[in-house]
Amino acid sequence: MSDKTRVLFVCLGNICRSPTAEAVFAKLVRDEGLSHRFEIDSAGTGDWHAGEPAHPPTRATAARRGAPITHLARQVVPEDFDRFDHLIVMDASNATNLRRLAKNEAHRAKITLFRDYEEGADRQAGREVPDPYYTGQFEEVFDICERAAKGLLAQIRTK
Ligand code: 4NP
Repeated sequence: MSDKTRVLFVCLGNICRSPTAEAVFAKLVRDEGLSHRFEIDSAGTGDWHAGEPAHPPTRATAARRGAPITHLARQVVPEDFDRFDHLIVMDASNATNLRRLAKNEAHRAKITLFRDYEEGADRQAGREVPDPYYTGQFEEVFDICERAAKGLLAQIRTK
């Protein structure tokens, strides 16, 4: 691993899943002493919540589990495709929305599904991070983010 690796987590509203993924991955990287090697951020494909802190139950879960969220929501901008090495989405509709914004194949190649990095017996390609804003699965989403973040870091470290 040489230069800084720039990772953007992306969901729809940027108030539940992607800020959780950002906080969990940042904590993992910090715990491994690798913070100086990464730039980590999150954004939403929608703009409804821009400028707002994360959804209160999402924030409460993350804080209780040691990965407090300080992020304020923002919408994805076209420049994100140049600035970041990885644009990591929570579900297939996020990927569809991002592909519409991508200008070329190099940009499209940066889009991956977070759960494709998840390790363990129940790993299954193509799975999505459920949206706790609608499902109420705050703990489960945090668990998924922890497992996928570990797999993501392991993959980046082998590069
Ligand atoms: P997120 O969840 O994409 O995980 O941040 C959502 C939160 C709010 C809305 C959509 C998704 N919303 O439309 O308000």
